[in-house]
Amino acid sequence: MTPTIVSCVDVGRTYGYGPTALVALHSTTCDVVDGSRIALVGPSGSGKSTLLHLMAGLDHPTVGTVDWPAIGPIEALRPGPVGVVFQRPSLLAPLDVGENVAVPLLLAGVDPTTAHDAAVEALAQVGLADLVDKLPEELSGGQAQRVAVARALVGRPRLILADEPTGQLDHESAAAVIDALVGAAEHSGAALVVATHDPAVADRLDERWPLRDGALHAAVAIPTRPTHDAPPSVPASLEPTP
Ligand SMILES: Nc1ncnc2c1ncn2[C@@H]1O[C@H](COP(=O)(O)OP(=O)(O)OP(=O)(O)O)[C@@H](O)[C@H]1O
Ligand SMILES: [Mg+2]
Repeated sequence: MTPTIVSCVDVGRTYGYGPTALVALHSTTCDVVDGSRIALVGPSGSGKSTLLHLMAGLDHPTVGTVDWPAIGPIEALRPGPVGVVFQRPSLLAPLDVGENVAVPLLLAGVDPTTAHDAAVEALAQVGLADLVDKLPEELSGGQAQRVAVARALVGRPRLILADEPTGQLDHESAAAVIDALVGAAEHSGAALVVATHDPAVADRLDERWPLRDGALHAAVAIPTRPTHDAPPSVPASLEPTP
């Protein structure tokens, strides 16, 4: 059976309390299995970032459970098995590119020389090994996002989560970033979940998971790519709500 990387069971996330409480996500049950390539799609405010943050263990559900069966307890998630790429620039300005990419390994206690070598290898995978000594301010937006992809893959993750990674980029840079993400997932054998408004990004993945009003609806296979070996990762119970 294909291992389940992250499993959400009847998950909900409400922000705030009382009359002003806002239900960002509700009644969401889904499994991301090994090898998945998933686009989380839906209008602004539909809950895409909320669900990604729960899958990353960066936030906790107010109801339901999120587990990482193939990884272990939440303490095991970082640094390493889960790599996250954010929409906004997330590189640390005083550190050069190589140091930025090495950060997750340094935090994990890897010795600096090994961490640096791994950072150079990860940068090479996204085609940016020659930028290793640059500062973030010297990069274009597209290059900075590819460096963020290299940082997400340096710990050889089982799961890569990206939140609108191409949201602020032109078409060409966006294509390079999605190439880097798909290549990174393939290289490290990771599952990939990308929240996106961009149909060109969604078309590069295998499945589309539509979110509407904080609820996940039935997954749609994206026919433009050959079907992946992995079986459909949304359980049959995820029928469209009327
Ligand atoms: N920290 C927060 N406090 C209060 N409400 C929040 C918070 N984060 C998100 N929300 C609300 O939760 C809902 C879902 O937000 P979320 O960011 O998950 O949407 P999204 O689908 O990622 O939207 P976008 O496409 O604009 O990024 C929205 O109504 C949003 O205003
Ligand atoms: Mg969002």
